[in-house]
Amino acid sequence: MNLFDVYSIWDIELIKAKKCNLYDSDGNKYLDLYGGHAVISIGHSHPQYISSIEQQLREISFFSNVVINNRQKQFAEKLGKLSGYTDYSLFLCNSGAEANENALKLASFKTQKKRALAFKGAFHGRTSGAVSVTDNLKYSAPFNLTDNVTFVSLNDIESVENELKSGQYCAVIIEGMQGVNGVTVPTDEFFRELSALCKAHGVILILDEIQSGCGRSGKYFYHQYSGIKPDLITVAKGIGNGFPVGGVLISPDFEPVKGSLGTTFGGAHLACAAGIAVADVMTEENLMSKAAETGEFLMKALSSFPQIRELRGKGLMIAIEMPESVSEIRRKLLFNYKIFTGVSHTNIIRLLPPLCLTKEEAEYFINSFGEIVN
Ligand SMILES: Cc1ncc(COP(=O)(O)O)c(C=O)c1O
Repeated sequence: MNLFDVYSIWDIELIKAKKCNLYDSDGNKYLDLYGGHAVISIGHSHPQYISSIEQQLREISFFSNVVINNRQKQFAEKLGKLSGYTDYSLFLCNSGAEANENALKLASFKTQKKRALAFKGAFHGRTSGAVSVTDNLKYSAPFNLTDNVTFVSLNDIESVENELKSGQYCAVIIEGMQGVNGVTVPTDEFFRELSALCKAHGVILILDEIQSGCGRSGKYFYHQYSGIKPDLITVAKGIGNGFPVGGVLISPDFEPVKGSLGTTFGGAHLACAAGIAVADVMTEENLMSKAAETGEFLMKALSSFPQIRELRGKGLMIAIEMPESVSEIRRKLLFNYKIFTGVSHTNIIRLLPPLCLTKEEAEYFINSFGEIVN
């Protein structure tokens, strides 16, 4: 059987990884500034992560959500402490798209309305509801098209107000920072006005922190720079460091209704063992402050390049927007300097490294980038 060929791939087979390094089957060593799309948070193959999963595997790896699972409770407690959302509750699932599906459902159950407001450039996943609030028709099949979603421009609070006052909306869904769109960032003021408008109109605010969360911005969630408290926060990617874990953080205003949400695999013992280890390492190794520091160092160094059209981002979620296609720069970074990077559109390099990236590794990237563009 062949693989269903939907991915554009590099001709590289990775067989080993450690911290911020990747190793291929030809013995080459790479620097990972992509993190497998913002997934690797605490670094590859962290010993504490390995031993937590290994130990769990020997005890019990899975049973369905029909019995007590104390690993889920421990995970929720640690996530609450780390994020500061100790009074919220946690629904566990398996991916970012699934987290957004469940958040949209919760908002619609609670308000009994069906319209959602989303933003131009948004990416929230590829499943039915998540793709309908994603602003890219390429990802939507005719089956996914719906009249229930309106897109307005990011940071355009007037358009948000005009829509919400219709009284038809159950939810506004917004990314902490728009990742796939090339790290386009809502202003703190926009977040605050948006939060106030949602409250005034009884609309649920869903913050998708799937890419910008888990400490990547230097705070646990990017929206925490603005001081707002959304009703629902969706997480995935970094919280499992490669093990598929997704979740919705749910405000105390929501009453759980038995059977309203559910999943077979979500919250499995093994997934929780991964998530617990990530939370512990994040705390013990102070990875949020490290992300903030290394991010600042990178931003400062990059701001000296006149070739760059615009720099955006916070912490270790950085977009380098160039005037033209970056494909040749990225190809040279990968094959000549052995550095993996991400991309948005055609002209934006996206950096999403593990949060344990060192200053020396960041310097190596800056020097390599400089040699290519100068
Ligand atoms: C902001 C955001 N939301 C949702 C998703 C979807 O997550 P997943 O691919 O785990 O379904 C992504 C994935 O890139 C994302 O960046």
